[in-house]
Amino acid sequence: MVIYTELPWGDKRTAKFVTNVGLITSDGPNGPNIMAAEWTHQASYSPGMIAVSIGHEKATAENIRATKRFGVGIASAKQAVLASVAGNYSGRQYDKIPASKALGFRFYRGRKAKVPMVKDTAMNAECRLVKAIRLGDHTMFVGEVLAASVSENKPVAYNGGRYMQLGRSARKPSNKEREKIKRIMEKHRKVAA
Ligand SMILES: Cc1cc2nc3c(=O)[nH]c(=O)nc-3n(C[C@H](O)[C@H](O)[C@H](O)COP(=O)(O)O)c2cc1C
Repeated sequence: MVIYTELPWGDKRTAKFVTNVGLITSDGPNGPNIMAAEWTHQASYSPGMIAVSIGHEKATAENIRATKRFGVGIASAKQAVLASVAGNYSGRQYDKIPASKALGFRFYRGRKAKVPMVKDTAMNAECRLVKAIRLGDHTMFVGEVLAASVSENKPVAYNGGRYMQLGRSARKPSNKEREKIKRIMEKHRKVAA
């Protein structure tokens, strides 16, 4: 018997993850749509790939399965309201893109993936689906990047259900510490077989 541990939403342990907020755009059976996905991360440099984990039944998941295309916008620190709209209403019941426009957020049509894309994000990528992997209660959609752009806007960080501005850097090792680390690492170098 396999014994596993759940990591549910709102749990003290899941609250220790720091993520960005992906604004995932799509078009398909549920029409043009946007959702928020904190489980959005880069998966490969070359070719550029991005992985997004989405609940199997979300409108966005259905759109991506149907069209094999999606957009990723890394939400900026000024887009927490947009993330909240995208993340708290479903495209099955709501036209979130016109609603977001009414709230002052801007969109354009992605030329490569032919999906709506969010303006003023920290970075944007238009993706072609290369793999969909069912993992527990989510599907990880892995997209190859067809086009990517960047702005001066800083990404928002997400932690424990809160949107945070990136702040002070944590201390890196000093040169003296690096020398010490190097000496210790040399003592622990593996002997070649
Ligand atoms: C900040 C934030 C992050 C979220 N991250 C995810 C996520 O990574 N994966 C997921 O499936 N849902 C996530 N959600 C919930 C979805 O965005 C939400 O269920 C949304 O209504 C789905 O929209 P859709 O049905 O139109 O696709 C998040 C919500 C918020 C507010």
